[in-house]
Amino acid sequence: MERKSVYLLIMGALVAYYVYMPIPDNIEEPWKVVLMNVLLRAFINLGLFIEFLGIYNFMDLLALTISLVDVSPTSDETVSVMDTKFNNTPVRIYVPKRKTAGLRRAVFYIHGGGWCIGSSASFFYDSVSRRTAEKLDAVVISADYRLGPAHRFPTQLEDVSSALRWFFRKDVLEQYAVDPERIGISGDSSGGCLAAAVSQQLLGNPEIKIKLKIQALFYPILQFLDLELPSYQEFSHMPLLYKSFAVRFISDYFANDRSFEKVILSNQHVPEEYSHLFKFVNWSSLLPERFRKGYVYKNPTYGSSEMSQKYPGFLDVRASPLLADDSKLRGLPLTYFLTCQYDVLRDEGLMYVTRLRNAGVQVTHIHVEGGFHGVFVIPKLKTAQKIFDQYISWLKENL
Ligand SMILES: *[C@@H]1O[C@H](CO)[C@@H](O)[C@H](O)[C@H]1NC(C)=O
Repeated sequence: MERKSVYLLIMGALVAYYVYMPIPDNIEEPWKVVLMNVLLRAFINLGLFIEFLGIYNFMDLLALTISLVDVSPTSDETVSVMDTKFNNTPVRIYVPKRKTAGLRRAVFYIHGGGWCIGSSASFFYDSVSRRTAEKLDAVVISADYRLGPAHRFPTQLEDVSSALRWFFRKDVLEQYAVDPERIGISGDSSGGCLAAAVSQQLLGNPEIKIKLKIQALFYPILQFLDLELPSYQEFSHMPLLYKSFAVRFISDYFANDRSFEKVILSNQHVPEEYSHLFKFVNWSSLLPERFRKGYVYKNPTYGSSEMSQKYPGFLDVRASPLLADDSKLRGLPLTYFLTCQYDVLRDEGLMYVTRLRNAGVQVTHIHVEGGFHGVFVIPKLKTAQKIFDQYISWLKENL
């Protein structure tokens, strides 16, 4: 028995040593972040090994594990919570219990998780939506969508977009006493990608009379053309979105094909016939000077057209809001945009901010020094609480 515990201790120490990574010293509450990082790295290593042995698909295992923190819809003294469907898409709805004379504002929230994991029921998202409903005195619709790798682009986008259009129906807005002129859309990470794409789509659809009042995008993923932006190079091992992890999500969103993943990692997945798109992700011209540091811009290296023929989605503007033409950005709603210092997605965010402003869109840009990918939805972190309070006061003023 004793020998067993000694072995376990040694094994534990070896695993901890293997997965431990130092983190920058301006990250708040570093031990919490180090612990999350160790757990995530251990999980990824184990999960990939299980997949390598042919036992279980890595992404399915990750989705299953994340779903362990799902919570049921539970009302409390201040907010009623219920699960329902909007045009076949499951949504979780939060309605404040406080009496109000008029109509309420509404936030349509799209969760992150690389299009493959997570849910509105996840503890993290349930917490964000509940607190938003309570603090803002607003109706929150937290949308679900079918996930990869079983479902691929554009299913995710179609699901959230059809749920939002259902919400826009007169009878539905009346049912929840929502003011049609005060509806905003929010999303984080891949949910931010979907939110940005839905905003662009609505703008281009004259049949839809309701206009979004704001869009709030938390460190969204916005493009797959260039995976060697300075932030991708500098922060490829930063929690909670390592570059290899991001590439796996991207690959599972479009293809579920390990060879596609390898080609993306080589950054030569775009054929020359798409060269005209690179101006939209040209960090040499779109990234503010102070973020470029010593990185030297190289013109793209083009690859064969095999992948773009098999999986054209990854070059589709509906998947990559940063590839939209200026004319598609003009008229987008007032934007709240959050980027984090230690995030591979920092630069595409910064470039979208530049492009939105150039197109005349009003943007409130919050750059969180010491922030990292995913921080907003981890309610136990002080940084998350600060971001949340700031976001709510912005919504109070602008939605
Ligand atoms: C990127 O911008 C630089 C100038 O800032 C220019 O020299 C280069 O040709 C551009 N490359 C592409 C692919 O747009």
